[in-house]
Amino acid sequence: MAIVNGYKQNENENSLDILNLDQLEKQAKEIIPTGGFGYISGGSEDEWTLRANRQAFTHKQIVPRALTNIEKPELDTNVFGLPLKTPVFMVPAAAQGLAHVKGEVDTAKGVAAVGGLMAQSTYSSTSIADTAAAGNGAPQFFQLYMSDDWDFNEALLDEAKAAGVKGIILTVDATVDGYREADIINNFQFPIPMANLTKYSEGDGQGKGIAEIYASAAQKIGPDDIARIADYTDLPVIVKGIESPEDALYAIGAGAAGIYVSNHGGRQLNGGPASFDVLEDVAKAVNGKVPIIFDSGVRRGSDVFKALASGADLVGIGRPVIYGLALGGAEGVQSVFEHLDHELEIIMQLAGTKTIEDVKKAKLLNLHY
Ligand code: FNR
Ligand code: LAC
Repeated sequence: MAIVNGYKQNENENSLDILNLDQLEKQAKEIIPTGGFGYISGGSEDEWTLRANRQAFTHKQIVPRALTNIEKPELDTNVFGLPLKTPVFMVPAAAQGLAHVKGEVDTAKGVAAVGGLMAQSTYSSTSIADTAAAGNGAPQFFQLYMSDDWDFNEALLDEAKAAGVKGIILTVDATVDGYREADIINNFQFPIPMANLTKYSEGDGQGKGIAEIYASAAQKIGPDDIARIADYTDLPVIVKGIESPEDALYAIGAGAAGIYVSNHGGRQLNGGPASFDVLEDVAKAVNGKVPIIFDSGVRRGSDVFKALASGADLVGIGRPVIYGLALGGAEGVQSVFEHLDHELEIIMQLAGTKTIEDVKKAKLLNLHY
């Protein structure tokens, strides 16, 4: 156990025997300090949207298919020109040093081990270059929390480009911090520095709460920023935090090369719809113009299947990966992805879908119980 500013960081490096992803939260709660766990697990206000994210997956059903003559489903896919071994994606998540002393470096190793795609956050505990290097050539995106200070933005984008990231995620649903009651109750302030802030800005995030960190980011983000980032980096810009067809088309019209349907895991606008409930309408509006990433509340292989069948090309998981990181480091992260892939394979077989492309064509039922 490492201790930084009185905060205990886990150092486990072991594979996990996983029953399901929900069980990981209970196990991780035992070993992540209260403030860090509250920040990771928490949502905003009374967490209605956080709960709705899970509930929404019951709104559609997968029809079992028979006589399909298939076996050994294949999970490999290709999105943004990137060959991947799984459609399950590691979302950008700040301050993973709260879960494990190696932070995003171990997450990168675990995701690389399963042939997946990972996004690293502006507010990572480890630097862009170190996190990318840990992936050892595996594809990564860099998620930007845009600042009003374009010297800061360009310094991050320069390092990301030099590190070989394959895309930039511009997060647009967090221009202010959602009302995070767990952090208020715990008076949570980040005990561990954020490497990119240390390097490129005054202060390093340590000793600040997330509301204060967000306050240093840009509140005003508009369509021109998409083009500015795309022009500056010559990389695809994926806009994260889209929940309406109108915003999706607006972003694409402004140059977005990908749409990321998400409600930030219920951590931002509480009282908004479950992310899964808006996915289909956004996907219909996007109509294949650009790839779609989806996240928020995904915990089962059947959730991944339903998201793919509703229009997603990649399906992101956040908290379960951080819990796996705490419990087992890089191997723990690998175990989380392997478990979810295993659940997905079973669902694909029983639904008569051999490939991910078959899953994307599968028809779901919307029977209301
Ligand atoms: C996040 N999320 C997030 N999103 C982002 O664009 N940049 C970030 O730095 C972070 N940081 C962050 C930290 C923690 C602890 C969590 C739980 C989440 C949101 C994240 O990308 C994603 O949208 C949600 O985590 C998906 O929901 P689940 O899978 O965690 O339920
Ligand atoms: C959060 C920010 C960092 O959700 O995205 O905590």
